[in-house]
Amino acid sequence: MNKKTVKDLDVQGKKVLVRVDFNVPLDDQQNITDDRRIVSALPTIRYLLNHGAAVILMSHLGRPKGQVQPEYSLGPVATRLSELLAQPVRMVPDCVGPDVQAAVAAMNPGDVVLLENLRFHNEETKNEPEFARQLASLADLYVNDAFGTAHRAHASTEGVTHYLPAAAGFLMEKELDFLGKAVESPRHPFVAILGGAKISDKIGVIDNLLGKVDKLIIGGGMANTFLKAQGYAVADSLVEDDSLESARMLLKQGQNKLILPVDVVVADGFANDAQKQVVKIDAVPAGWRILDIGPDTVKLFSDLLTTAKTVVWNGPMGVFEFPEFARGTFALAHTLANIQAVTIIGGGDSAAAIEQAGLADRITHISTGGGASLEFLEGKTLPGVAALADR
Ligand code: 3PG
Repeated sequence: MNKKTVKDLDVQGKKVLVRVDFNVPLDDQQNITDDRRIVSALPTIRYLLNHGAAVILMSHLGRPKGQVQPEYSLGPVATRLSELLAQPVRMVPDCVGPDVQAAVAAMNPGDVVLLENLRFHNEETKNEPEFARQLASLADLYVNDAFGTAHRAHASTEGVTHYLPAAAGFLMEKELDFLGKAVESPRHPFVAILGGAKISDKIGVIDNLLGKVDKLIIGGGMANTFLKAQGYAVADSLVEDDSLESARMLLKQGQNKLILPVDVVVADGFANDAQKQVVKIDAVPAGWRILDIGPDTVKLFSDLLTTAKTVVWNGPMGVFEFPEFARGTFALAHTLANIQAVTIIGGGDSAAAIEQAGLADRITHISTGGGASLEFLEGKTLPGVAALADR
């Protein structure tokens, strides 16, 4: 990575404003159900504290659209972070304004403050310069460790860099190194697996990756549109008719590279307890829908993965939130955990599947960014990264 990192900053005695992505899932009791994003930010926070800085953390949580909504408070995150750091984390009730300034003015080296949800202010997503300036005025230096939000040009990711020396945190650096290396200088064979419901979200990614991979495996709901484009009857399966033309184009472009399912699990309804059966892709019965890949497909995909030296995976192979239709996704997760390759999981659902399967520690790198890793794989410039100072 050609950007400055926290190690290039003299942080001793300084106040450092750190953008983290603490957009974690919460249940209806406000319990954090997955704290990976918090744990992943600890190396940067600890480094700053150990080097004599006072750390001011800021993040968004959900999409409260400029309204103060208690269910989107970062309060539960402050509690969890304090447990993880084994020190108090002071939560302030806003992210700008006199109370925040006073709290920050009272900070000593080694202290941690967490600002309240940035998206309680519309100015954050609008990247308004005055709001960015107010955030920046809290500190001497700025560090962006929020890879998960690096694809957003918001006040806290882009705007602040106009007012403070700006460097990447360790998580940001690690994400860019793993994803960058996989895409730019992978060990071959390089196999990508793309799944999830919609092809429209991933056309750019497929297009970009086809120029780099040896094989590109497609599963999940998005495979249906490709199958239909090939002339198969997919009955009641989810299909994006608007993307059929793009699918045809990609099939042509990826002739020897694109690998699609050969059999599927079909159901007579969209429910975990629906009737199901395994059929070849040319035998999907009328009135049924594809909800998972079939066993022959699992074998086909797994055999390809076994020979790979680099694998990037984004998106489940079926409706994995229904246990009955999660088998294909979990089978591939197990294959990935057992191969001798650099294995990288884009965030979101595939990361959740790996966690649920208890295989996270057998994967080389699990990204904390869903949308951000997709945009990276698409070859796009991430504004939150571009805004950081070059080395
Ligand atoms: C994410 O969860 O992908 C990031 O935190 C970004 O959130 P956003 O899509 O609401 O900007």
